[in-house]
Amino acid sequence: MPTHAVARAPGKAILLGEHFVVHGASALAVALDIGVEAKAERAESNTISSVSGKNVTSAKIEDAEGFLAPVAFSLRQFLKDHSLNGVAIKITSEIPESAGLGSSAASSVSAISAVSNLFGIELSKKKLYHYSMLAEKMVHGKPSGIDAFVSINGGLVYVRRKTRKVLPCRPFKLLVSYSGMQRNTGLMVSKVASFKEREPKSFRNLMRAVNALVPDVIAGLQKGELPILAAAMNFNHEALKIVGASNETLDEMVRYARKVGFAGSKMTGAGGGGCIIALPKQDNEEEFEKFKAIYPHSFLCNVPGEGVKCWLV
Ligand code: MEV
Repeated sequence: MPTHAVARAPGKAILLGEHFVVHGASALAVALDIGVEAKAERAESNTISSVSGKNVTSAKIEDAEGFLAPVAFSLRQFLKDHSLNGVAIKITSEIPESAGLGSSAASSVSAISAVSNLFGIELSKKKLYHYSMLAEKMVHGKPSGIDAFVSINGGLVYVRRKTRKVLPCRPFKLLVSYSGMQRNTGLMVSKVASFKEREPKSFRNLMRAVNALVPDVIAGLQKGELPILAAAMNFNHEALKIVGASNETLDEMVRYARKVGFAGSKMTGAGGGGCIIALPKQDNEEEFEKFKAIYPHSFLCNVPGEGVKCWLV
């Protein structure tokens, strides 16, 4: 007789269009092959704990604070709407926290999936998205929803305004490297919004230019033609730099990736810290070893990864 429900949800990397997507442009993201695992079991009270290496943070779902607050908020609403009580959830993440790789969305998606499965509730993807977005809205006021949608569905995801879809994509390898600096999405979204207010014309032109690259990149990814994505990533990084989303550390990492032989590189996610991504030229790992020697928090992902999966143990 199974006693636990487990769910695993992937993190994400934005290939093109972060920040601009908040202002109505298109964005493309892929699910990573690393993610968050949530394990749920019946208990006397509602609790949530997060395990990261040897560190365990626990709280009652009713009064969780800090990084547990958004996922606890989604869970609270889910439990209330379904008149449920008495669940202990343990979250274990392979994604560095506050690194722009969607750990917050993957936590909510996996936690809600595990809890609904434990209580035998069939939750549609639409409903799961709804509950995960409650957490995302706590992180910043105008989330595009890209993190939650990728974590639920996996694959290559296109988002523009209310349109969200999974697109065909040949598998490829992507370097993800963490700068070691945590980023604050809400702060970075406001910073870019104030650039838009100060320089509306420049912002609009940059946004249009990045947006115009998206259809060719989609066509390239469908055929496995990666140079188109590489060039678009390089251009997108410059645009993000101008609107104030990057910083010196990220710029240096992006430059170094190209220097050691990656075809394209850019910051990914909200910026101001967090991660960069880079596209290898061919399927050899020489450039990866060179890069990792200087930036050790680097890993090569096989993308696109799968969406959330659930099982009983
Ligand atoms: C965060 O992963 C990406 C941003 O574009 C914000 C969003 O899409 O909600 C900065």
